[in-house]
Amino acid sequence: MTSSLFDPIQFGSIEAANRIVMAPLTRDRAGPHQVPTPLMATYYGQRATAGLIVSEATQISAEGQGYRDTPGIYSAEQIAGWRKITEAVHAKGGKIVSQLWHVGRISHVSLQPNGQPPVSSTAHRAKAKTFTAQGFEDVSEPRALRLDEMPRIVAEYRKAARNAIDAGFDGVEVHSANGYLLEQFLRDSINDRTDAYGGSAENRARLPLEVMRAIVAEIGAGRTGIRISPVTPVNDAAVDSDVQGLFNYYVDQLSLLKLAFVHVIEGATGGPRDSSPFDYAALRTRFKSGSERGAWIVNNGYSRAMALQAVAGGTADMVAFGKLFISNPDLVERLRSGAPLASLNAETLYGGGAVGYTDYPSLVKEPA
Ligand SMILES: Cc1cc2nc3c(=O)[nH]c(=O)nc-3n(C[C@H](O)[C@H](O)[C@H](O)COP(=O)(O)O)c2cc1C
Repeated sequence: MTSSLFDPIQFGSIEAANRIVMAPLTRDRAGPHQVPTPLMATYYGQRATAGLIVSEATQISAEGQGYRDTPGIYSAEQIAGWRKITEAVHAKGGKIVSQLWHVGRISHVSLQPNGQPPVSSTAHRAKAKTFTAQGFEDVSEPRALRLDEMPRIVAEYRKAARNAIDAGFDGVEVHSANGYLLEQFLRDSINDRTDAYGGSAENRARLPLEVMRAIVAEIGAGRTGIRISPVTPVNDAAVDSDVQGLFNYYVDQLSLLKLAFVHVIEGATGGPRDSSPFDYAALRTRFKSGSERGAWIVNNGYSRAMALQAVAGGTADMVAFGKLFISNPDLVERLRSGAPLASLNAETLYGGGAVGYTDYPSLVKEPA
């Protein structure tokens, strides 16, 4: 039996009204102390007809921050701010998971506690920019995490997952993509360690898998998902020398955890889908093994036609849209009816207020 993009779906303990996902989108509009604001609740509430919203990337600790005004989920004030957002989404029948983020070396000393260097798998600085109070700046030179610090990192992810549930989220998506901390461990192009967290694929996947197991133990597999981007070059993450082998192993291990979902960015994030040869279908087959299976969510440059085909043809269970959700709060309705899609204003993506954030109109006015 074939499914439609507009059919409901249950994955893990999450029941979604349709198979359209709002991709995680950093908008740099958190308030003082990285606390989510009421304006953010309006923004997410406007997009609650998505089957699932993945929140913007949210740092698990002060050290995990790499850009200005991104929200955290490690203080009571932040949890209270997020609760208003999850309530706004749930009031409209939507579902929302928190994207748990540690940027690793993609940070700047001005954003770190006490101006300390950012941490990573390596002490090598990335050739990448970050967004600070001064605008776009080169990232700072990192410090390699010590072996005895790994349990602390795992514990911070675990606590953040618990905080997300306390804030009313339906689950979490661990950000294991786009060249941030967990990818700085996974890829042999970045990880130059010689201890148990470097070298073989098993060793490089050790920290990410410890994180995933700890979160599953804390909140349950049915509320836990992950985002991966096997070949994206963003944030100075060159492709692994055996990228298919690495991700086959990673997904095999993730599959054992019976996660609610795997969310895969195909190709270069926000760029060409065929930037590097990679067999995504092979990964999906590996995740499918076993009787209980979670959702396979795909992303990157999907149009309406591509999304309809992916779900109807069975190559994906759900499709995530990023940029289209910025400029079309009622994207689900527009995709359903085939209505024209609005384009976004690139000037208002990062930082600022309501302009270019909560003022994109829906085709049908919401009742007051
Ligand atoms: C403004 C902006 C912010 C983004 N922030 C995040 C983020 O916080 N976490 C993440 O995993 N990806 C982030 N991405 C990547 C998107 O989730 C998505 O993978 C990308 O836009 C490609 O999907 P699309 O073609 O449907 O837009 C961001 C992209 C944009 C344009």
